[in-house]
Amino acid sequence: MTTKKKELIITSALPYANGPLHFGHLLEHIQTDIWVRTQRILGNKCIYLCASDAHGTPIMMKAEEENTSPEKLVDKYMNEHKKTLGAFQVNHDCYYQTHSEENKKYSELIYKNALKNGFISKKNIKQLYDQEKKLFLADRYVQGNCPKCNAPHQYGDNCDVCGAKYEATELLNPVSIFSKKTPVIKESEHLFFSLTKLENEVKEWIDKSSLQESVVNKLQEWFKDGLMDWDISRDAPYFGFKIPGFEDKFFYVWLDAPIGYIGTLEKYLKDMKEEINAYDLWKESSEFEIYHFIGKDILNFHALFWPALLHAAEFKKPTNVFVHGFLTLNGNKMSKSKQNFLLADQYSKELNSDYLRYYLATKLTNKIDDIDFNLEDFQKKVNTDLVGKFINIASRVNKFLKNNNNKLGSKIDEVLIKEFHMEAKNVFDDFVNLDYSNACKRIMKLADMANQYIDKNQPWVLAKESINAKEIIQISSTAINLFRILNICLEPIIPETASKIKSYLNLKDDSYVNLEAFIKNHEIESFEPLITRIEDDNITYLQKVSESG
Ligand code: MSP
Ligand code: ZN
Repeated sequence: MTTKKKELIITSALPYANGPLHFGHLLEHIQTDIWVRTQRILGNKCIYLCASDAHGTPIMMKAEEENTSPEKLVDKYMNEHKKTLGAFQVNHDCYYQTHSEENKKYSELIYKNALKNGFISKKNIKQLYDQEKKLFLADRYVQGNCPKCNAPHQYGDNCDVCGAKYEATELLNPVSIFSKKTPVIKESEHLFFSLTKLENEVKEWIDKSSLQESVVNKLQEWFKDGLMDWDISRDAPYFGFKIPGFEDKFFYVWLDAPIGYIGTLEKYLKDMKEEINAYDLWKESSEFEIYHFIGKDILNFHALFWPALLHAAEFKKPTNVFVHGFLTLNGNKMSKSKQNFLLADQYSKELNSDYLRYYLATKLTNKIDDIDFNLEDFQKKVNTDLVGKFINIASRVNKFLKNNNNKLGSKIDEVLIKEFHMEAKNVFDDFVNLDYSNACKRIMKLADMANQYIDKNQPWVLAKESINAKEIIQISSTAINLFRILNICLEPIIPETASKIKSYLNLKDDSYVNLEAFIKNHEIESFEPLITRIEDDNITYLQKVSESG
């Protein structure tokens, strides 16, 4: 515990500001939050950032649909998302948005640096254009027959039926989803970021970043297929930042989105009245470590384009990118239209956030496999582990302590407690290594051991002889010491419950830092139920709302 303290910038991916947050988003934010809490408990300084991803055509269209401006739509969702995540104890140091002056400043700076260093080129490209809507059509906005198998109603990028990949201009009988008219092919000049020139730099970054094994494999596949230069401009109308030097060209949303991490840092530093700016922490020589948590669908943006762009602009590249799999619900892909979908707010109206945090933690590893949220399993796991094993330790001995005015004795089983101390360190190593699942296994094994200790010593049998027998107090005091260590281990996962337990133990400032303490001759508070079981009704409710689409 004497190693040098580190300074970390940690981010979760920036959710699009065009709809409420769902369980998939929660998985990512809870995974990140547990890591942030762990790092803080270990004494490292963390700045945890997130923001609303504001730009792009879908947000522009959604605003139009709702008869509002994109700015207002984004503000609305930014505030809503912040509140939603707060209810799950995910507290970012700053939750901002990418449509901000700070992000504009850094997007322009990074673009200009990349341009100056020779990494931006121009090329004319042909695209489908909706003449009525006066809009270039992104792949999702055009449908037609597959050029290979002729299947109808296929989008402009690939065919759902035969799997063929093609350009939207190759679609047969293309129709714009807006005007329902046949689009024309129109040429326009686009700006490209020269990813191909930076292949070696990206490979070097991958080699030294200790990325997860499955992530490296995926990246190698892409390198094998060959990298391509990246189209970073979009023509008006577009909701985004204008590209310096052009009247009607905008940065593609995915250019300024990750730069939004830097813009959000700038906002945070301003709010904190710091004299430094975001560049000071993100410049190549910065000592800050930078970690991004993302889902596997946005890996190319974070592990190819982003490090390349940062390199081109002479900024610091991420220390690591942590990737998770997708959350499925009761074994199936989450989908509104297939009536298998849970919103974050629907859950928090019904149940305590710590239950969900714990359940997801038991499933999170550093692999990128998908993770299933199964309602029945959720109920069983929380009731068995948290209520049945963990809280049970305190509830089994509290009545004996009550007979001693809630006072722990001076004698405890220090050998057994030391064993728990040792294992707690392994638990925190698991957290750091993103193997929360293994951490939970270790914690529950300890909880079993604590319960077995009580079983073996049978304080209730001794109590029949004398309610104040020294031995009963010794057993109960030992059990409370074990309970305390488990609580320290669980704190990053279930912060709200852990804090209640610390109050119960009358050890408000307790933490991993004083792990190795023995609690003796210490008065605790009267026991009250610290958490309750998940009832069948709760599960029925969640099942019902998940099916309501
Ligand atoms: N706006 C981009 C991210 C820009 S980051 C510079 C985006 N937004 S998103 O709202 O679609 O997704 C935000 C994050 O949530 C991504 O990391 C994505 O992988 C994650 N998830 C969205 N659905 C998910 C699941 N069903 N399961 C787990 N995570 C998923 O992408
Ligand atoms: Zn096809």
